[in-house]
Amino acid sequence: MDKAMRRAAKRWIGVAAGVAALATLGAGCLGNVSGDTSATKVGDVSNPPAERGRPGADIEAACGNGRVTDAGTRTIRRAPYLQDVTHRSAALMWTTAGNGEATVEVTTPSGEQVATVPARVETSARPLGARQLVSEIAGLAVGTLYCYQVREGDLPVTERGGFRTAPAMESDGAVRFVALGDSGGGGEDQVAVLSQLESVPFDLMLHVGDVAYDEGTRTQFETRFFDMYSHLLSRIPIFPESGNHEYKTDEATPFREVFRLPENGGPNGRERWFSFNWGSVHFVGLDTERTGPEQAAWLEADLAANERPWVIVYGHKPPYSSGEHGSDSKFRQYFVPILERFRVPLVLTGHDHNYERTKPIGGVTYIVTGGGGVGTRTVGTSSYTAFSEQVLHFVYVTIHGNKLALHAIDGTGKEFDSAVIERGLLDAQLGKK
Ligand SMILES: [Fe+2]
Repeated sequence: MDKAMRRAAKRWIGVAAGVAALATLGAGCLGNVSGDTSATKVGDVSNPPAERGRPGADIEAACGNGRVTDAGTRTIRRAPYLQDVTHRSAALMWTTAGNGEATVEVTTPSGEQVATVPARVETSARPLGARQLVSEIAGLAVGTLYCYQVREGDLPVTERGGFRTAPAMESDGAVRFVALGDSGGGGEDQVAVLSQLESVPFDLMLHVGDVAYDEGTRTQFETRFFDMYSHLLSRIPIFPESGNHEYKTDEATPFREVFRLPENGGPNGRERWFSFNWGSVHFVGLDTERTGPEQAAWLEADLAANERPWVIVYGHKPPYSSGEHGSDSKFRQYFVPILERFRVPLVLTGHDHNYERTKPIGGVTYIVTGGGGVGTRTVGTSSYTAFSEQVLHFVYVTIHGNKLALHAIDGTGKEFDSAVIERGLLDAQLGKK
C-alpha cells in the first residue's frame, strides 16, 4: 500500500472518530480528523539528533513537582503555571474557588527562605467559578533555580515546585526551547505530541497559535490547554502567540486573560505582539491577526534596539507555506522585508496543519510547525521548500554559541527532519561586517 493509500485508509478509520470533533470545529477546520502520528518520509537527518531527556528534570529533582495537593484540589481550579519569566523575575498564576489570602513561598533548593510573595486577584480576568491569582516574584538572581510552594491561608495547596530564571546574555549554556502550533483539539493527536514533548530537555515553550480550539473560549483554554500541559507549566514557562481561532472569542480576550505576556507592544499591541530575552536569544512574538504598518513599525524598532546575537521570530500565519491555507500575503508585505534586513535566522509559524521547512529566503529560514495536535492536512512543495510532510509533530531548538540546531520530532518520537544554522556562516553569506 503506498503512502497516499495508507493515508486514505487512515482517514476513513479516522472519519468515524472525527465526526464528533468535526461537529464542534468551525468551517475553517474541516478535514481535521485524527492525523498522521508518524512521518512516512524524512528530510535532512544528517545532523546530530536531538538530546533526549525529561524537560525540567533537574528542577523537579531539586524542588519537587509542584503538583496540587489533595487539600489544594478542594479550591484550585487551574493549577499554578509560570508566566513572563525573565532573568530577574517570574509570575506564578492559578485560579481558585477559595476566598482567602494566598502566598507563594520562594526558597533556595536547600530550603533557605528567599521571599513570601502575596498573590493578588486579577480582577480583569473572568475564569469560570473561580478567581485568577498572580504572584509576582521579583528581585531574583539571573539564571538561578528557585523552589516555591503555594499556600492558601496556612494550607499548602501545592507540593514544592521550582523554576529557573532566564540566563544572562553572556551565559555559556545552551538555550533550549520547543515550539508547537495548532495543538488544542483535546484528543488523541494532542496527547501523542504532548507525550513526545516530554522526551526532550527544554527550558521554555513557544506556541505559534491556535492554542484552544475551536473558538479560544475560557472553557476551551481550561480543557484544551491547561488540563493538558499544566504539569509542564509548573516548572517551565510558555510564551504563546494567538492564532485566528483565539480571535473567534471577543478579539482574543480570553487568550490575553489567561496568559501574562510581555507588555512591550505599545498601546494597541499589548499582549498581542511582544519581545523578550532568554540568554543569547531575543524572541519576538508577532500577532498575525493584526498584521499591518503599526506592528511592522514596532517590529523594526524592536529589532533595531536588540543587542542579543540571536533572534527568533514566531507567530501564527506563515509567509511561506505549501499547505492548504498557503502563504500569508500580509506577512510577506509587512514583516518579511524587515526580517531580511535584520538578518533574522529563523521564523516559526503554524496555521497549516503540517510541517514545512524552507530553504533560506533572503537569509531567513521559515518553519511551519502546525502539527501540534488537531489533525493534519496535506502539504505540497514549492520552489522554496527544503522539506515538507503531513505529520503531527513539534520542533525542538537548541542554540549554543554560534550554532542553532532545529529538530522536527513526530508524534511517535521519531526525528524526521533537522537543520543547523551557523551564525558566523549566515553573517558571512549576507556580507555582514
Ligand atoms: Fe490557524
